[in-house]
Amino acid sequence: MNAPSSQALQAFLEQCRQRVDSALKAHLSGQVLSKKLLEAMQYATLKGGKRIRPVLAYASFLAIDDELVKADAVACAVELMHCYSLVHDDLPAMDDDELRRGLPTVHKAYDEATAILTGDALQSLAFQVIARSSVAGISSSTRLEMVAILSEAAGMQGMVAGQALDFDAVGKPLDQTQLGIMHSLKTGALIKASVQMGALSSPAVTEEQFQTLSNYAEHIGLAFQVQDDILDVTGNTDVLGKPQGSDEALNKPTYVSLLGLEAAQAKAAELAEQAVDALESFPESADTLRWLAQFIIKRVH
Ligand code: IPE
Ligand code: IPE
Ligand code: MG
Ligand code: MG
Ligand code: MG
Repeated sequence: MNAPSSQALQAFLEQCRQRVDSALKAHLSGQVLSKKLLEAMQYATLKGGKRIRPVLAYASFLAIDDELVKADAVACAVELMHCYSLVHDDLPAMDDDELRRGLPTVHKAYDEATAILTGDALQSLAFQVIARSSVAGISSSTRLEMVAILSEAAGMQGMVAGQALDFDAVGKPLDQTQLGIMHSLKTGALIKASVQMGALSSPAVTEEQFQTLSNYAEHIGLAFQVQDDILDVTGNTDVLGKPQGSDEALNKPTYVSLLGLEAAQAKAAELAEQAVDALESFPESADTLRWLAQFIIKRVH
């Protein structure tokens, strides 16, 4: 791999973040029917976050195409879906966490009803952004396919199923297969959808490219949650911006509780390697994706 310079990669991350932030801001303005709801939605989306799902969508698009503007809608949609999932994940009935992205969680800053409604509205907005996007070159049938991908990734065949399994699993030992399924659903599914929808934002994408990128995404999606489990043990609350030790306190099965720290780290590294291997048929245009596989397992927050 002809590694892009770290300066170029930092510039790419920054560029993606700026693009998605400006799209998020634009979609979270306009007619105000409930000031509190809109403010809570802005609070949940515009204050921090690594924006890794939008970055992956853009990088996947760039593996095939240029003109990032074509991927703005999907980048915005996947981040909205993700922010919704965080707001609900933190609720007292779920992980009961009080800190997110270095700030009080939405139900703490506002109230529980507002947090539930904020999540609901962010999820709806994610679909609205895709359905209404009007970028030249993205056909209605492609947008419909994106809606199908995102709904499957978010719902009972994806993230919500994973969250349900997560709650069923509290205090129960899972084997590695069960844990892999749970993590691939609760976190991997949306990451995979981000990569897939980024690819579909290019009218030039081929079926083969789409499958290859999907395969890459499955590996990094799981790697991302393995690293999240690791950081719950090795990280610190200030850097993470969310409470370290939350999994242990809630008795959640994680890669670290099942395998131990070293084996969990080895698992994350193996998954990142498999992701890079999956991209073998791609030229240098996929180097950012290759780098992101490493970034995901080396990150400290
Ligand atoms: C945290 O996601 C929740 C998981 C699915 C593991 P991120 O680590 O991407 O959180 P932000 O968006 O950067 O805050
Ligand atoms: C979150 O998993 C998965 C979703 C939000 C769908 P975690 O519960 O491990 O995420 P954090 O650690 O609270 O960010
Ligand atoms: Mg959780
Ligand atoms: Mg949580
Ligand atoms: Mg976690």
